[in-house]
Amino acid sequence: MEQTVTPTTTPTDGTRLVAAQQSKTRRSQGQDPVPNAALTLAQISDTNLQRFSSGYSELDRVLGSGIVPGSLVLVGGDPGIGKSTLLLQMMNALAHRYRVLYVCAEESGHQVKLRAQRLEVEQLAASSLESIVDRADLYLLPETDLEAIVRELDTLQPQVAVIDSIQAIYLPTLTSAPGSVSQVRECTAALMRMAKRDHITLFIVGHVTKDGAIAGPKVLEHLVDTVLYFEGDRFASHRLLRSVKNRFGATHEVGVFEMSDRGLAEVLNPSALFLGDREEATPGTATIVACEGTRPIVVELQALAAPTSYASPRRSTTGVEYNRFLQILAVLEKRLGIPLSKLDAYVSSSGGLNVSEPAADLGVAIAVAASFRDRMVDPLTVILGEVGLGGQVRSVSQLELRLKEAAKLGFKRAIIPKGQVLAETGLELIPVGRVADAIVAALPAQTRSS
Ligand code: TYD
Ligand code: MG
Repeated sequence: MEQTVTPTTTPTDGTRLVAAQQSKTRRSQGQDPVPNAALTLAQISDTNLQRFSSGYSELDRVLGSGIVPGSLVLVGGDPGIGKSTLLLQMMNALAHRYRVLYVCAEESGHQVKLRAQRLEVEQLAASSLESIVDRADLYLLPETDLEAIVRELDTLQPQVAVIDSIQAIYLPTLTSAPGSVSQVRECTAALMRMAKRDHITLFIVGHVTKDGAIAGPKVLEHLVDTVLYFEGDRFASHRLLRSVKNRFGATHEVGVFEMSDRGLAEVLNPSALFLGDREEATPGTATIVACEGTRPIVVELQALAAPTSYASPRRSTTGVEYNRFLQILAVLEKRLGIPLSKLDAYVSSSGGLNVSEPAADLGVAIAVAASFRDRMVDPLTVILGEVGLGGQVRSVSQLELRLKEAAKLGFKRAIIPKGQVLAETGLELIPVGRVADAIVAALPAQTRSS
């Protein structure tokens, strides 16, 4: 690995030389005349907060409308969920405008290249690894030694760098194994010092691990500026990128992607993905509008309540929180007389999307009641409300936003909590105060299925 910059005639090294010179100026500009002197807010320049786009609007949204230069972003997720794919695609988009470095500590350069070819990342589809470096500003570094990585960052001075993954790199001065808590912490701290000093935006990949021997992203959350988790069912194609910490924007925003054989595609209209097949409405189906951060997503819930052949009836949930489901079943039994203690009960959300929020309660209750009575809920009605233990319907956050999304998708009616004042939403509203009223409204007698 190069330690010093030697001026030569090749274009690659020329870039490096310029980069190193730029870095020196950047560093000297960044120095305050009086080190450690306190400043007023007004004295601190805000020019560094000029965000830039990652090339993917779903990713920008989660980051808080774009990448903040010099920020440190942790991207966590289960192994195999698509972190490397996402970041390689992002780097490819960024390489059109910025110098970017992808440190592939887990894969060889050729492996990354194979993946890139599969993704049809055009710059990387060149015939040899060298020509990639010649043709574009996307640099690959298959390296696990942190000192070598820091040296390369120092020389190349990329605007954006990805470390994939933090568990695969190590600091040679520490005796513990790569992936241990001390290695992961020290490596991140060293990278952070480097990134803040030279204004490099760093994306660090961290695998979520069940095994305590390897430190997961949790260990690092307090160190970094932004924490994103990439999640999804490995057997379903959709992936959610969720921000759980963000020093530069709102948390709990989500970006939605779909994994295909050509990599990750953005899903700009997630409701369409989770709505299920509207033509085949069946008894026991109810539609709700979940909210992920500030983003409404229309989701179909399906319930099945059938006589049990077990001493204690079965309950199972997919996408709905188990204890919340038990609570709703108890309310239905006690307040509406549905004999659920003699019925198995199942509920699932379309695509397995996690809708563990109180606003989904009433939809769950109605889906169960509809399945029990073998009736159909009008497919153009959405249902929103939290269910209290007394059988009352409580108000829901961001109701207007949710209803507007439903109206946009062609829904006509909404069953909503009584007393929530709303502006015009374009839907016929049916306010209800109790679960029993909601069930009467949702399941009129004539909709009995054949
Ligand atoms: P990867 O990005 O390697 O996951 P991570 O870095 O989080 O461990 O993605 C792994 C999975 O994604 C892999 O099992 C195959 C799948 N995949 C696709 O379905 N299509 C694609 O185009 C690519 C590149 C991967
Ligand atoms: Mg990976």
